[in-house]
Parts: sequence; structure tokens; C-alpha cells
Amino acid sequence: MKNIKKIINKKNKSKIVCLTAYSKNIAEEVDKHVDIILVGDSLGSVLYNYSTTRKVTLTEMIKHSKSVRLGVKKSLMVVDMPFNTYANKNSALKNAKKIIKETRCDAVKLEGGKKIINQIKLLIKNKIPVMGHLGLLPQSTKGKFKSKGNTTKEINQLIDDALLLQKNRVFAIVLECIKTPIAKKITKNLDIPTIGIGSSVHCDGQVLVTDDLIGLNHTNIKFVKKFVNVRKYINAGLRKFASDVRSNKYPTKKHSY
Ligand code: KIV
Repeated sequence: MKNIKKIINKKNKSKIVCLTAYSKNIAEEVDKHVDIILVGDSLGSVLYNYSTTRKVTLTEMIKHSKSVRLGVKKSLMVVDMPFNTYANKNSALKNAKKIIKETRCDAVKLEGGKKIINQIKLLIKNKIPVMGHLGLLPQSTKGKFKSKGNTTKEINQLIDDALLLQKNRVFAIVLECIKTPIAKKITKNLDIPTIGIGSSVHCDGQVLVTDDLIGLNHTNIKFVKKFVNVRKYINAGLRKFASDVRSNKYPTKKHSY
């Protein structure tokens, strides 16, 4: 709870940095730079080429989260509840408890507003911290990334959902692909932080998929900026290894028993 309060207190003071991790070694590096590490169900498309996050299982999320836990020292660790694990409030509670117990994460993230409010209420009543997710909801979307907040109906729904999540003590909300003025308005109207992804600089923080921003994952999504191309560095090392093996430069005596 101490870490959760720290995140909420950043609102209007300093930006919140959030990134995904799916395994220990990446988590160790991400942990040095962020406030929140998310084990996102985006791992389905990034690691397994699934066509949709709906195919990600609870077993997969728990397995990857256990590995991530080994690399996280200081950040708040949040785990996505995969599709179909919170279809009703009893399954939501059972599965959230399992995730918390087996992965020792700090919180879970669920996609949606009013439609899943009973599930969220029950988790919070049971002292399980919840991060919300509004706008583009990958678990409910088939196909292309499309922005949200284009019609009056959609805008009102987003604002109502955000206020409802806040009222029910969700500690932060991911806003995905929401039009700039709407993301700005939601952020201004809330006392809890918004974490944007494709939802403009006006959010209280930003989240990206780590594999996207370091150039490990091939993607051309509009909101992704490639900050570094790690494939270049990986290839330099691998090329040198292959060349040294082929020319008998490796292993030397130093590397041999
Ligand atoms: O699954 C995920 O990685 C996410 C973030 C991109 C917000 O939900």
C-alpha cells in the first residue's frame, strides 16, 4: 500500500513512468528507470505471435510474472488479468488472489469500466489493489488499433467510466489511444493518475511495451517511438562470436578447462 500511495501522490507533481517486462533480465534493467513495471498480456503478441491478447492464459501470465518478480527491487509490480479470468466477480476474486499469491505482485490490471465494476469492487473490498484500463481495450478489440473519444456517446462513456473507477478506489488508470482533448479532460477531472499510451502528453504518466521502444519487437504502431535499436548491439555480439568460433579465436586457453 505504501508504494501505491507513492504513485497516487505523484499526481500533479512528477510524471509517472511505466514499462512492461515479461522476464527477469529485462525487469532488472527496467526497474532502474521506472515507477511501475507491468507484466502486460501484450506478451501474447510480442513473444508468442498470438493474433489477440484473448489467447493469453492465466498460466502464461503467472509464469512470466514469477520471472519478472525476480528482477524487480523497487518498482510497483502490476500484472494484467488475462481475458476470461474476470468474467464474473467470483472468478475475478479467485484468479486475482491466485495471481497475487503466486507472483507476489503489488496489484492487478483489468480492462473496462462500468461493465466490470462489480468485479473491481470485490477485489478492492478484499484489499487487492487495482489499476484500471480505458479507451482501446485490446481484450475486447478484434483487429486494428483505433482511437477512442470520437463521438459524444464514446466521450461521455469514457468520462463516466473514469469517474466510476476513481469512486471505487482504483489507484490509477491506463488510457489507451484516447483523443488528446478527452485524455486531457479525464486527467484534469481525476484525483488519481492517468497513465497514457497513445493518449498524448497530458496524461500523468506514460506506458509503453519495452520490446517496442528498444527495437526488439517489430511494430509500426503510431504511438511507439523507437528509442534505441538493441537488435544492432545483439547482432554485433553474435556476429563476433560466430566469427571467432569459425576462425578458432574462441575459446582461448582462458575459457577452457
Ligand atoms: O498489455 C500491455 O502491455 C498493456 C499496456 C501496453 C498498457 O496493457
